[in-house]
Amino acid sequence: MFRFQAHQRIATFRQLVASYSVTKVQKPLKDVRYTKLFINNEWHNAVSGKTFPTVDPSTGEIITFVAEADKVDVDLAVQAAKQAFRLGSPWRTMDASYRGTLLNRLADLIERDRVYLASLESFDTGKPFTVSYHLDVGETIKVFRYFAQFADKIHGKTIPMDGPFFCYTRHEPVGVCGQIIPWNFPLVMQSWKLAPALATGNTMVMKVAEQTPLSALYIASLTKEAGFPPGVVNILTGYGPTAGEALLRHIDVDMIAFTGSTNVGRLIQRAAGESNLKRVILGLSGKSPCIVLADANLDHAVELCHEAVFLNMGQGCSAGSRTYVEESIYNEFLERAVEKANSRKIGDPFESDTQHGPQIDQKQFDTILNYIHIGKNEGAKLVSGGERYGDQGFFIKPTVFADVHDNMRIAKEEIFGPVQSILKFRTMDEVIERANNTKYGLAAGVVTKDLDKAMHLTRSLQAGTVWVNTYGMVSCQTPFGGYKESGNVKELGEDGLQAYTNLKNIIVKIPDNS
Ligand code: NAI
Ligand code: MG
Repeated sequence: MFRFQAHQRIATFRQLVASYSVTKVQKPLKDVRYTKLFINNEWHNAVSGKTFPTVDPSTGEIITFVAEADKVDVDLAVQAAKQAFRLGSPWRTMDASYRGTLLNRLADLIERDRVYLASLESFDTGKPFTVSYHLDVGETIKVFRYFAQFADKIHGKTIPMDGPFFCYTRHEPVGVCGQIIPWNFPLVMQSWKLAPALATGNTMVMKVAEQTPLSALYIASLTKEAGFPPGVVNILTGYGPTAGEALLRHIDVDMIAFTGSTNVGRLIQRAAGESNLKRVILGLSGKSPCIVLADANLDHAVELCHEAVFLNMGQGCSAGSRTYVEESIYNEFLERAVEKANSRKIGDPFESDTQHGPQIDQKQFDTILNYIHIGKNEGAKLVSGGERYGDQGFFIKPTVFADVHDNMRIAKEEIFGPVQSILKFRTMDEVIERANNTKYGLAAGVVTKDLDKAMHLTRSLQAGTVWVNTYGMVSCQTPFGGYKESGNVKELGEDGLQAYTNLKNIIVKIPDNS
């Protein structure tokens, strides 16, 4: 039988896969190694000595306590990051290519510890281990490797300006980046923020979500092992209104990168305005439509729309939570969507066939059940789920509402849970108008075999990403980010580098005799 070994060191991915069977991976109950603040490549207790618990969402039990950073700890971390960014520091004088080498080393270390990291992620978030292993850790490795390649390819231009001048541009790092991440994809969100910031030569103070501190702290230890100089990466655990807020208002923080709710996004812009006008990049909430036309292959469409909303227990910013189905296939689609939801395997995240784990915490659990209650009261027809599963942890059954109307709150507000709203439409113009009638604009999906209709929809939908005959394909090579109140930036892809640099223009007078 495979025994989980936290310290296993395995050279290649193939060996790693061969070395374990997913069915037998266990919770790393006794092997949570890092619980303190990571500042200047060292582990610190909070100055106040305070700690707070992180919980296993599948049982509701406390896993361990982690240090609770406050303003004074944020100050220490920002000073370390500022010091690491000073002119002439090891980080500022490092060859750009070597920054890429360090990022690749970090990716190698994550790959080495992939089983452990995936188990830690599942323990802290409740997501199925198979998902953590393949999707979360797999994507994290790819993101670090992708941005590693850019470290020495951040090119400026020479510009033939008028007059006897030599003009060139440089993309310089912004400085100290404050980064605040959510709990739904802790490792992936951390990589989206760290990788481009490091590739471009910034230093950073990251506050991770209070619900899911553990994998981020482990990655902190790997950044040190990879060889990043002290102060380049600082990772804090703590709460939003205390540690997070201190970061937002810090005068020595040059930018804030945030993923989370639109409401906190508003606070961040305000805090930037009231402090030093730091750059703010925001990846926020969504209420994305997934549109199924009558010509679609029905099995494919049902499956696609199901995964679009239920992946990660509905806790995804781009979740396709509004399923628009053309009238002529609506009844059949609905029947199959219900079958599909009822057959989703709920249970222990560490069982290999589990597809659906718990919600992240009691607060989200209560919020989602309240939305289900609201949906019923508003007159939507509950056709699947709608209640908790089991008697421990924060499990909610995959829930499907039929006969949903656009003006219902369940069709307008981000539920961030396993709730699919199915809506009926008749014409293309109508569905475009209705799909766009939201304050959000993160993503949209289209399912059809008709190329003309697909092209018309992709052009008409107001969303940062439109998927056709697929959904949720987010890749480090392609830009991701929202329109409208879903955000103000593209992360990932080459475009994702822009937010992390300042463009400097240099104009040199050419001597008269040349
Ligand atoms: P949140 O937006 O409050 O939390 C995200 C991060 O922001 C966490 O690290 C948190 O500590 C930090 N934060 C909270 N208040 C802050 C403040 N005043 N200053 C600085 N940082 C602050 O999200 P929460 O409460 O965990 O979830 C509520 C809803 O937000 C969800 O139901 C969902 O609708 C949305 N959400 C969206 C996410 C996305 O990926 N777009 C991710 C997480 C939540
Ligand atoms: Mg937790």
